[in-house]
Amino acid sequence: MPVFLDHASTTALRPSAKVALTSALDLLGNPSSVHSQGRGTRELLEASRDAIAKAVAANRSEIIFNSGGTEGNNHAIKGIYWDRHQADPAKRVIISSETEHHAVIDPLQWLQKNQGAEIVYVRHFQNGMVDFDSLKSLIETHGPAIAMISLMWVNNETGVITDIPAVVRLANQYQIPVHSDAVAAFGHIPIDFQASGLTAMSLSGHKIGAPIGVGALVVLRSAKPISLVHGGGQERALRSGTMNYPLAASFAAAATEAVAELDEEMTRLEALRDQLEAKVVEIAPSVIITALGAERAGYNAHFIFPGTQSDALLFLLDQEGFCVSAGSACQAGVVGPSHVAIGMGFDQAEASACVRVTLGSTTTAADISAFIDALEKIHPIALQAAPA
Ligand SMILES: Cc1ncc(COP(=O)(O)O)c(C=O)c1O
Repeated sequence: MPVFLDHASTTALRPSAKVALTSALDLLGNPSSVHSQGRGTRELLEASRDAIAKAVAANRSEIIFNSGGTEGNNHAIKGIYWDRHQADPAKRVIISSETEHHAVIDPLQWLQKNQGAEIVYVRHFQNGMVDFDSLKSLIETHGPAIAMISLMWVNNETGVITDIPAVVRLANQYQIPVHSDAVAAFGHIPIDFQASGLTAMSLSGHKIGAPIGVGALVVLRSAKPISLVHGGGQERALRSGTMNYPLAASFAAAATEAVAELDEEMTRLEALRDQLEAKVVEIAPSVIITALGAERAGYNAHFIFPGTQSDALLFLLDQEGFCVSAGSACQAGVVGPSHVAIGMGFDQAEASACVRVTLGSTTTAADISAFIDALEKIHPIALQAAPA
């Protein structure tokens, strides 16, 4: 069995989430039906909503169940932009970052190409942290023309944390709504939606031990993002369609457990991650730890191995029995340069030599030392394999 060190791509299904899912699959009843069986599944759905609300310190009415992070990001970005632009056509600027996940970058680019939006990007320091002076200056420059800001809470490649409440404080100067992709943050750092001041936040279940295909958009009641889908009016009319109570129940079980064990688990993973990084520096002294010195979540290690190519490293590590990624899993399964590394200011060659190792519930100290042994073996081969 290979050692799985790619937990930021997706992670192991929690037994509690599996039980919640399978027992809910035995129920029968559309949660919108008024009969007793419908009321039964509705009760389960609403209990699941309560659990997610509690896990992120939101109000229960702010939880809109959906299929995951991509949908949540699309809905928040397009929906808030459409609403704001419709009310005031002068509002067409969106502030974001080039280090966002494609589930944010692509809807932004779509709005730019098809709907006349103007996307402006904050600068970063080389360790990936947002340069707040650049954010301030973008807000000052574009002021009343800004439709919204979208900045991720934790970067899924590097683990770098953005101080989202501080972003919101700056945005408040012009009453600009702020959305955050919190997919890589939830379950890994404490999230308090209410205290953050955010207008909307995207969550995904499969990053915390729920099945793939469930998540939530957390959205203030006062916000009126225009819906991507229209139909039966479920979920505050923001996500029409028969409500998926089995997946919601499973997501709730995973979220409750992830938040309950967050402190202990993150301390454990951070210690393993630090050991990993120290050992990697010993065996490959030219390595760059991209986010070194940044405030970051404890489960990510993101390396650049100068003089190598990510795809060779990934292939060789896979042959040794280790699943890791280059950072950005390209749609076609082809490893390209990391757009996150490029957004941080690394060059094409460096961005093409990235390896992301992400730890999770199944990761042990033995996995880390076995990985180091494998890396020590394959790193010289990857160096030789690189085109001159
Ligand atoms: C930061 C981030 N945002 C969004 C997504 C997309 O989430 P989902 O797979 O639930 O659509 C991911 C998944 O890779 C992610 O890491």
